[in-house]
Amino acid sequence: MFDAIELKKQFPIFSNHPDLIYLDNAATMQKPLCVLDAERFYYENHNANVHRGAHRLATAATDAYEGARHVVAQFINAPSHEEIIFTRGTTEAINLVANSWGNSLNTGDEIILSTLEHHANIVPWQMLAERRGVIIKIIKLDEHGAVDLAHFSSLLSNKTKLVAISHVSNAIGSIQPIQLICEAAHHAGAKVLVDGAQAVAHLNIDVQELGADFYAFSGHKVYGPTGIGALWVESNTLNSMSPWQGGGEMIAAVSFSGSTYAAAPYRFEAGTPAIAQAVGLSAALTWISALDRAALLNHEQQLRQQLEEGLIQMTGISIHGQSPDKAALTSMTFAGAHPYDVAQFLDHKGIAVRVGHHCAQPLLQSLGVSGTLRASFAAYNTSSDVDAFLVALHETLEILG
Ligand SMILES: Cc1ncc(COP(=O)(O)O)c(C=O)c1O
Repeated sequence: MFDAIELKKQFPIFSNHPDLIYLDNAATMQKPLCVLDAERFYYENHNANVHRGAHRLATAATDAYEGARHVVAQFINAPSHEEIIFTRGTTEAINLVANSWGNSLNTGDEIILSTLEHHANIVPWQMLAERRGVIIKIIKLDEHGAVDLAHFSSLLSNKTKLVAISHVSNAIGSIQPIQLICEAAHHAGAKVLVDGAQAVAHLNIDVQELGADFYAFSGHKVYGPTGIGALWVESNTLNSMSPWQGGGEMIAAVSFSGSTYAAAPYRFEAGTPAIAQAVGLSAALTWISALDRAALLNHEQQLRQQLEEGLIQMTGISIHGQSPDKAALTSMTFAGAHPYDVAQFLDHKGIAVRVGHHCAQPLLQSLGVSGTLRASFAAYNTSSDVDAFLVALHETLEILG
């Protein structure tokens, strides 16, 4: 049994807001005390800039920052910590790939995306397409909101250079069969970038088993701080990539006749990095690794099932995304009420949910809706959260309908 009630006590936000029912976890997760403590401890005991100083604090700060890189590598089973680049988050990680590796693409080369991508995994490729004449192709979804693998295969050709796809859809929860996608893409000679923003907190990530070339995620979506994330790049690909931002920390030598660059991953981390946030991320990953991940996944799935069973009992509710392989979130619309109005009512009852296009406008257009209300789960949610949501939703729809 997964004891969410006990675990919830580790999250100060719930002591400060005892009535809060937080179901906006896909947007950002709450932080356990150990993450907050780790950042505070770092600032109080080790604060210095990394990689440069000859004093003991600089050494301690560098050790803490580089230690975090090892923890990230271990968490996603990367072969080496030197394949981990710290970024501000998933968005910056994808932009890094588009602006570095992407420059090796030429007119007529093709990139495949899917209909359910977050804007972070669409817009950087559109910008690249404009710069380099690259063509973007889009995989359709089947009627359940899962990626249509037959259509994907039909798009692959020797012109395909990259498949960029989310592991888990933030808007409708579909989990993509990344292993199959990587095998097919590699067979066609293409690389695969996986947007893992919604996956890392829920699924066990093993980048070697998945077989991807790039894997990106954000710290704040896995119980860690904002402003930090990571990009894993397979080493051969990584070593072929040029830096995308210039400055301190990323160079080997600088003169006015030209500069040379540091080895990876450092040549991708220009300027002072988010040191305390990396320490916080390390604490978050260590924290979640100590949980029974299978039991956690099961717990979150049970909450989703409880929610969806409750929604089915009510009239006028459409659930968007019914992929057989689905993460712990539910997106819905209402026959007689606008999702924004429903969310406002729920907020008055202390229930936090997300409404809107979830930064996935093309997906919502394909579903024929302008916005949905999304409830998404994390380790600290309980079955009574779901009960409270269902009761509050019922009352809200009575008033609005
Ligand atoms: C699937 C997916 N990709 C990318 C992002 C962007 O993440 P960030 O804003 O942390 O860079 C998000 C955030 O919601 C997401 O859900």
